[in-house]
Order: sequence, then structure tokens, then C-alpha cells
Amino acid sequence: MSKQTVLTGITTTGTPHIGNYLGAIKPAIEASLNPAYNSYFFLADYHALIKCHEPERVARSTQEIAATWLALGLDTDVATFYRQSDIPEIPQLTWLLTCMTSKGLMNRAHAYKASTDANRDAGKEDLDDGVTMGLFSYPILMAADILMFNADIIPVGKDQIQHIEMARDIAGRFNHGFEPLFTLPQAQVDEATQLIPGLDGRKMSKSYDNTIPLFSSADQLRKLINQIKTDTRAPGEPKDADNSTLFQLYSLFANEAENAAMRDRFAQGIAWGDAKTELFEFLNAQLEAPRQRYNELMADLGYVEAQLQKGAEKAREHSAPFIDNILAATGIRPLTYVPAVKADEAVKKEKSAEDIARAEQGRRRAILMQLKREIERVEAADDKAAEAQVVLAEKALQVEGLKKKARQKAENELDVLRDELSQYLS
Ligand code: TRP
Repeated sequence: MSKQTVLTGITTTGTPHIGNYLGAIKPAIEASLNPAYNSYFFLADYHALIKCHEPERVARSTQEIAATWLALGLDTDVATFYRQSDIPEIPQLTWLLTCMTSKGLMNRAHAYKASTDANRDAGKEDLDDGVTMGLFSYPILMAADILMFNADIIPVGKDQIQHIEMARDIAGRFNHGFEPLFTLPQAQVDEATQLIPGLDGRKMSKSYDNTIPLFSSADQLRKLINQIKTDTRAPGEPKDADNSTLFQLYSLFANEAENAAMRDRFAQGIAWGDAKTELFEFLNAQLEAPRQRYNELMADLGYVEAQLQKGAEKAREHSAPFIDNILAATGIRPLTYVPAVKADEAVKKEKSAEDIARAEQGRRRAILMQLKREIERVEAADDKAAEAQVVLAEKALQVEGLKKKARQKAENELDVLRDELSQYLS
């Protein structure tokens, strides 16, 4: 079987945090090492503009996210790692797909509905207040990201499942309306990494302001971990590991044995202060080396940029010829374009040759019915060859004497008769 393509994008609006790492980056890098997959990972900077109009923040986030993936060991010779805006075929495809997407489908998109719901709740008359066309048609840009590379598997968070379904829908419309050029993608949601708790115990998310930046300094990391919410249980009192943010974060970085040992210590009543120190030391030990690499990369952005350029070149090896095929399918073609004969049309042609032969057979049989008497005369004769010649001569004479239209009919008869009687003539 040919390789499956795994593709995912990260919007460049923030600083990568532990939730991004555990939920998206780490599993993606691991999947890229599996030879069953072709991996495409990209910085979704066009997506950033949907919700962020702070140029410095978008630019900074793009640097940070790129350096993060490299610092964590992504092999750019194995995976294709690129910046969305380096692939001009993506916005080109976005337009083509925009013309294949019903507005009603976009009306149902969660991100857009959340905005109109908020406006309704705020009592605003204009439900579209503050909604840009970018936000409204954002699932189409995302569909283009995915369909451009015929991706099979899209690892995403739960909130993105609807977008993958919309990409399937849009792909289906194009395939049906033009040519079946696009693979229908499938979302892949890892339940285990869906609930990475933040400092306050809620899901770690930029929007809750409860994140732990992945490469914060050791000091900062210690401070943040000290802010993690705990309950009022005193040292020595058994603690409920499963309801502890400290334990959950620990276990996401730990192996099974480490996990079991820590669970034990919770049961035995580890002090919250000690649990925080343990967590800090454990995370810091694992993050120290990539953090150092990250800092080196952030000080050498020319190298990071070159990695992205290499990725863009690899990605465009696919997207540049593919967009030509896609455009041609819609009728946007060089003037001299000659459509390749499609396989099913070739079959159709073969069939119609058969049909013609069958029709010809039918026509011949119909004429023969009218020539029954002449044929019987030959068959009944002793000297069949002589009789056949007589019959043919008579028919030829008849043809001579006829006017154009009738003559054509008789000529046809003569042809068929000649054919039929040829068996008697040597
Ligand atoms: N919209 C996604 C998010 O906010 C990021 C993204 C953009 C993406 N294009 C994509 C994810 C294509 C997967 C595939 O998380």
C-alpha cells in the first residue's frame, strides 16, 4: 500500500505551551518517524490573520513555533515542514474551493457561529458585527491546506473536527463537479491528549491565560508550577492523584513505572510543596536540552528560515504541478491545452464501436427479409451459381432504372444481396 499522508498546521499567534507540545507537536514528530506516513507540518500564518492583527506578534510567533519544532528534533529531511504563506498554490486553491462551497455550509461553522452568538448575547442588532470574511470563510482556507497535499489523516483537537468534515464536503463537491482529484481527509483525535490541564485546572489554553510556555526559563517554569491550584489537604494526608493537576501534568511526561511511583506518593500524603518541586525537577530535566537548542535556534534565525525554505521547495514539488491540474479541471487552461482522453471515455468509445456493428447487423437482417424471395430462388435452383448471377443481374437492372432515392435503397439491397449470395459464387 502507498504511504498515508499526515498533515497538520499550527496557527502562528502565540508562544508554544506544554499543551501544544503534548497534544500536537510531540505526537506529530513521533508519527513522522513512522515509515508508513508522509508528514506535512506547517505554520499556518494566513490563519493567524483571521484573529490577530498585530504584525509583531504574528512574526514573533512564527519564529517561535518554527524554532520549537526544530528544537524538539523534527527531522526536516523526513517530514515536509513549511510556512503556509510560502506556498502560493494554497490561496489559489482557496479561491477555487470558495466557488465550490455553499454559503450555508459556512453559516454553520463553529467559529462563525460563536461570533454571532456572542453578538446576540450582547444584544447587538448586527449579528455579524466584527466578523470578517476571513473568519467567515476560514474553513475554506483550511480545506485548501489539506486538499492541496491530498492528506489522508489530520491530527487535530476536537474543536477542529467540524473543519475536517467541511474539507471532505468541499472536496466531494469538487470531485463530483469537475474531476475526482482530491482525497477525502479524516480527522484524527487523540482522546488522551485532549485534556491537558493548565495552571487553574481547566484545559490549558491561550484563551484561559493558564498556559505554561514550553521553553520558559527554569526560573519561570518553577514559578508557574508553584501557581498550580491545589486543595487544602495537609502534608501527610492522602491526596487524590486523579484529581490533581500536578499529577496529571507529571503523568503526561512520565513512563508507567514513574507514574505508579508518583501515584503511590500521592496516596501516602506527599506535601503539595514537595509535589510541586518534584514536578518542576522532572519537567525541567526533560526540557533542559531542547530549551537550550531552542535558544540557540532563536539566536540563529537564518538557519531556521533556511529550513523553512527547504520545506517550501519540497512542498511545491507537489503543489505547483497539482494546481495546474486542478485549474485545468475547472476550465482555466492554456489556450493550447488538449484534454487527455479519460479512461472512462475510452471505454465509452469502444462500446459505441460495438453498438455500430450491432446496428449494422440489424439493418442487414431487415433488408434480407425483403429479399427472401430472391434468396429462396437461388437456394432452390439446381445450378445455384447461375441462378445467383441471374438474380444479381436482375437487381442491378432494377437499380439502373430507379430515381435517386429509391435507387439508393435498391443499391443497399444489391450490396447485401451480393454479400449474401457470394457463398454460391466461386
Ligand atoms: N485551524 C487550526 C487550528 O486552529 C490550524 C490549522 C490551519 C490546521 N490549517 C490546518 C490544522 C490544516 C490541520 C490542518 O488549530
